Amino acid sequence: MELEGKVAIVTGAAQGIGRAIAETLALCGADVAVVDLDISGATEAVKAITHRGRRGCAVKANVAEWAEVQGMVNQVMAELGRVDILVNNAGITRDGLLLRMKEEDWNLVLDVNLTGTFHGIKAVLPVLMKQRGGAIVNIASVVGVMGNAGQANYAASKAGVIGLTKSVAREYASRGVTVNAVAPGFIDTAMTQGLVGESREALLKQIPLGRLGTPDDIAQAVRFLVSPAAAYITGHVLHVNGGMLMG
Ligand code: NAI
Repeated sequence: MELEGKVAIVTGAAQGIGRAIAETLALCGADVAVVDLDISGATEAVKAITHRGRRGCAVKANVAEWAEVQGMVNQVMAELGRVDILVNNAGITRDGLLLRMKEEDWNLVLDVNLTGTFHGIKAVLPVLMKQRGGAIVNIASVVGVMGNAGQANYAASKAGVIGLTKSVAREYASRGVTVNAVAPGFIDTAMTQGLVGESREALLKQIPLGRLGTPDDIAQAVRFLVSPAAAYITGHVLHVNGGMLMG
């Protein structure tokens, strides 16, 4: 129960990795706000949290819109009373080779993955500073470090998340706020459902541990970074990728 008395916000938590993070933080004692475009999925996730004896609230917000993210923080403050942890997890892909990539697909991925993370941090920081501390974890990707053919927009957004993480970590360390990133490899969720047949086999050959990751593999890394055990870690990128990228 290392997070007892804490309130966490997890974006994109109606399903997949975000949902696993929300449930894991609740298992550790946190009350959790589940933020998503998909309010029915968010409401289901909140049921799982209250089932574990914690408080939860479902918030419908598009992280790409500043006003909606500000509204999200106001709603969480009104319903749960404080914020100690923010996990910027909401993310999307719109894949395609660069010469065929539409400007709107470039912009949408940057708006959600990178600007959405900026919005979350900017909206929550004043609350964390007033409380004299807190922990932010941004979900990046191995692709943000390695690059990936067909994902120029996504890789750029996730590389941006890493630079954003390190800069904000430096800016607010003196205020007791830690800011870290978790960079998943390939995780078995809706986002990777298209990976089938030969492309899946080829991918598995690049993963020393020989399997895709699970949402829980990522949730455990986030749990550590927001726990008191990680109090002296900030500006770090924790790679959780089965050994696909080392160093
Ligand atoms: P998912 O597609 O299963 O879930 C994403 C959730 O975010 C959905 O519930 C969706 O409704 C929500 N969402 C999308 N746009 C939103 C917006 N504008 N505002 C609020 N909510 C929004 O994806 P998954 O796999 O769980 O990914 C979660 C995070 O992990 C993403 O940031 C993704 O880029 C990252 N990631 C995933 C990997 C994978 O292999 N699945 C690998 C590396 C990183």
